[in-house]
Amino acid sequence: MDNVWKDIARKIHKLHQQKEILPLHEPSFIGNEKAYVMDCIEAGWVSSVGKYVDRFEEKLAEYTGVERAIAVMNGTAALHVALKLVGVKPADEVLVPSLTFVATANAVTYCGAEPHFVDVSRETLGMDPYKLDAHLQEISFMKGQNCVNKVTGNIIRAVVPMHTFGHSVDMDPLIDVCSRYNITVVEDAAESLGSFYKGKHTGNFGKVAALSFNGNKIITTGGGGAILTNDYDLADYAKHITTTAKLPHAWDYVHDDIGYNYRMPNINAALGCAQLEQIDEYLHQKRILTKKYEQIFREYPGIKLFKENNDSHSNYWLQAILLDQERYDFSKVLKELHEEKIMARPIWKPLHLLQPFADCQKSDLSITIQLQKEIINLPSSPYLGGDNSGQA
Ligand SMILES: Cc1ncc(COP(=O)(O)O)c(C=O)c1O
Repeated sequence: MDNVWKDIARKIHKLHQQKEILPLHEPSFIGNEKAYVMDCIEAGWVSSVGKYVDRFEEKLAEYTGVERAIAVMNGTAALHVALKLVGVKPADEVLVPSLTFVATANAVTYCGAEPHFVDVSRETLGMDPYKLDAHLQEISFMKGQNCVNKVTGNIIRAVVPMHTFGHSVDMDPLIDVCSRYNITVVEDAAESLGSFYKGKHTGNFGKVAALSFNGNKIITTGGGGAILTNDYDLADYAKHITTTAKLPHAWDYVHDDIGYNYRMPNINAALGCAQLEQIDEYLHQKRILTKKYEQIFREYPGIKLFKENNDSHSNYWLQAILLDQERYDFSKVLKELHEEKIMARPIWKPLHLLQPFADCQKSDLSITIQLQKEIINLPSSPYLGGDNSGQA
């Protein structure tokens, strides 16, 4: 077995022979990044306002097809505000996948609400709408307009599907379930800039969505995020509360709400503008990398590269393989790859198993538990695609 992974590691290293260590995901700054950042420094507009913030918001809205994008300082802040915008309040419950990055559930707790964990599907790696429906049938009842958890007596206010590694959740049936139970959809699209469901960009399906531009994401602003929405009033309110809720005035400090200093600094937005100019090229390279990984793993039984399904056009942010547990020892594989200087990672520990969420409500999570023992992420930086033809 050991030889198999040495062999695989050798093939992965061949994707980029100049690098001794292959990290999981590295940003690249080969476009206008330096020019735009220098422009901020020379103009003195490095902080909370400036032309790059406005431009980044416009370009993001244009790219994703939403009416409005509001840039903030990270994806977690974007999720926090997104949940507030749809009225998540203390003692509410919010349905989230257990198989996600911890920020999805943390943002719920920032609103004083509780995450309620649900299972994912093997086809998408994201929330399973059919299992969600069955769970709601079992544990909830409608009280007026509200879906109430029979066990806790709390209102289930929102649901947060997350598009894992850029693969879209099956949104049509999910929206159907949520409209029957009157539960608002907030998309965690942190990983899915450049991903589409049935031809429409992710982030257009819920009332609000959140993006992340952390250093490991498909484009980066250093740290950063954005709130997406097609609702102008919500967008105005989001901009207001993420910029300290200050009323416009030449010198007076009047704040008419509890606001947050969640603004994206201009210097970060400058990076974002330059990165967004290159997104088509990144996406092109990532699809080539998928083909290369497919070729590598074709030869090895018991290792399956996760591919997009017919309804989803993925950005392939992180490449994922699923291991047959009968054939491979998961921990040994990770150790072996690390010894070979391939920075592979397991998927997240399911959130219901983390101490802060141990007492939260949950549905059957059998698929989550299984997938956690099978999924390994492999180096996914766009340069590993290695296509120099320049065709984006
Ligand atoms: C699924 C998911 N949600 C939320 C976040 C939070 O984004 P950030 O790190 O920008 O706060 C991330 C990424 O880090 C993520 O992967």
